[in-house]
Amino acid sequence: MTFMRRQASVPLAILTALTVGCGPTASPPAAAGTVPEPAPKAAPEPTAEAARPLSNPQADSIRESRTRAVAAVLERIAGREDEPAAEVFENVRILGAVPAGRLLRIMDIGFGRSLGVGCDHCHVPGNPASDDKRPKRAARAMLRMVERINGELLASIDELEGPRPTVNCTTCHRGDVVPATAMP
Ligand code: HEC
Ligand code: HEC
Repeated sequence: MTFMRRQASVPLAILTALTVGCGPTASPPAAAGTVPEPAPKAAPEPTAEAARPLSNPQADSIRESRTRAVAAVLERIAGREDEPAAEVFENVRILGAVPAGRLLRIMDIGFGRSLGVGCDHCHVPGNPASDDKRPKRAARAMLRMVERINGELLASIDELEGPRPTVNCTTCHRGDVVPATAMP
């Protein structure tokens, strides 16, 4: 049944989109102040953009705070990076199948860098499992929206040439909490 197949494909669609947002897993995060390239349709290549020096000192310190937060969690879960996030963490409802280490890269690059924020924009400091902060709950709703766009809406447009048309958080946010509705 088509409906069932679509349901089953949703985690794949979301994982694909967020992985594209993260770029190659081995490379360090790119400068938080730079504007990322539009989401590529195939696997992304490392670009000169990613190597550009940071120009915005505030973005720089936000990026460093995210790097420190990721390192602290990695230390806490040492040895369990490849286990599903749902088993390693307490309250992962949508990205539960993603390996714990990759979840943290999604948090840093796919979420933090895309929105130009630190972890604390969404998380109660010291308690990442808490859902008390509105932006964290909004981010879950955004994940579901991106699932639908990629899994249903984009997938149903026949007149596209790309093998895997995809949006992710960066497509709209591009470094800002509130996406632009007009050209600068
Ligand atoms: C835009 C909002 C947002 C930002 C920014 C963000 N997170 Fe998250 N985080 C979430 C959401 C939403 C979840 C739950 C995902 C789910 O339910 O599948 C989550 C889950 C987590 C979890 C699992 C907690 C548990 O025990 O359930 C950890 C750990 C975490 N984030 C760490 C971080 C770190 C470290 C950063 C910064 C590098 C960060 N997050 C930035 C939204 C955010
Ligand atoms: C199709 C465009 C689009 C995509 C894709 C998208 N967003 Fe959003 N997002 C928006 C818009 C529009 C708003 C509302 C901004 C406003 O308050 O006016 C928003 C708001 C948010 C907010 C609330 C921010 C705040 O503090 O008020 C969070 C958090 C967020 N998005 C996270 C995400 C995450 C994480 C992803 C990727 C999983 C994502 N968004 C993907 C368009 C998008």
